[in-house]
Amino acid sequence: MAGFFASLSKTIIAGIVILIAIIFFGGASAKMADAGWWTFFMRVLHVTSGVMWIGLLWYFNFVQMPSMPKIPDDQKPAISKVIAPTALFWFRYAALATVVTGLLLATMQGYIGDALMLAKPVTAIGLGMWIALVMAFNVWFIIWPNQKKALGIVTVAADEKAAAAKLAAMTSRINTMLSIPMLFCMVAQQNGGL
Ligand code: HEM
Repeated sequence: MAGFFASLSKTIIAGIVILIAIIFFGGASAKMADAGWWTFFMRVLHVTSGVMWIGLLWYFNFVQMPSMPKIPDDQKPAISKVIAPTALFWFRYAALATVVTGLLLATMQGYIGDALMLAKPVTAIGLGMWIALVMAFNVWFIIWPNQKKALGIVTVAADEKAAAAKLAAMTSRINTMLSIPMLFCMVAQQNGGL
């Protein structure tokens, strides 16, 4: 048992097997002929990737950044050389997956143009989409290139490294700020929040 759960891939496969059992025994298999069911399923994929993205953003801001000053210098490489690069890998690809599934979802719902123009009645999701698109831009074009310099994945002079670390941290904080109204807007569309 412990051996099974020592493997992340086996754990994920087990989760998917439980999901398939719920889908079939719960009767959802009969609904799969409906396009609406696949829109629902895209929503599941979207929220799953969004949880991983924002979960890691909050891990950086709530856990890793405040803990760094408390870690002795000789132990800091465990974070900067091992944990942060792995977390950043899942972070940026989860952001990409969230954008792709979100845009597909809006297309499948038939309101992508209206949402991007903040037209009624999809103003809430349009606002959420724009905020999340800015956040995803920040991840790929500000946080990641600057983290590469800050973590030593790309070699630069010491002052450039310090400036890159500062910019990456500030942008990560901006995304944390934006995540609060973004999540409200995402959930508001279906649930009468706005
Ligand atoms: C550019 C990125 C994003 C786009 C284009 C996007 C798009 C969408 C769309 C079209 C919906 C369906 C709204 C509806 O008709 O109910 C939705 C719902 C949702 N999204 Fe996003 N989204 C993005 C980012 C995120 C992020 C980062 C999260 C974080 C977890 C997130 C979480 C959710 C949630 C929880 C829902 C509500 C599902 C429901 O109420 O059934 N989205 N999003």
